[in-house]
Amino acid sequence: MSEDQRWRPLIGEDEIPEGGFAFAYQAGPFTETGILLRTAEGVRAWRNLCRHLSVPLDHADQGRFLTSDRRHLVCSQHGALYRPEDGLCVAGPCRGVTLRPLQIAVRQGWVCLDTSSLPDPLAGFGTTP
Ligand code: FES
Repeated sequence: MSEDQRWRPLIGEDEIPEGGFAFAYQAGPFTETGILLRTAEGVRAWRNLCRHLSVPLDHADQGRFLTSDRRHLVCSQHGALYRPEDGLCVAGPCRGVTLRPLQIAVRQGWVCLDTSSLPDPLAGFGTTP
């Protein structure tokens, strides 16, 4: 994989909307979504999967990822609250665990997804313990 193939441009660094930016990516045979947002500690990207039941955070309210005060990512299913900067769940049924990160980098003004680090949801499937 060349460097150009490895880094997939997602959005211009200056174009990230305040409410975050959702994008699709391929994880093995599945299409998943990620959430990218600007935080006080820099740009972060998380898999759009709640750590409680592995449903998209916006499962019950499509396209909405943040609380109204924009301080936390919120799961629309049961209300888990996550800190945007480190993904830690600070309230709700999965308190204490973190969202799974996606590797990104800013390259020439673009936020780019590291496609070489994408999760393989079938890893370990079919192997015997
Ligand atoms: S599925 Fe997200 S809090 Fe339950």
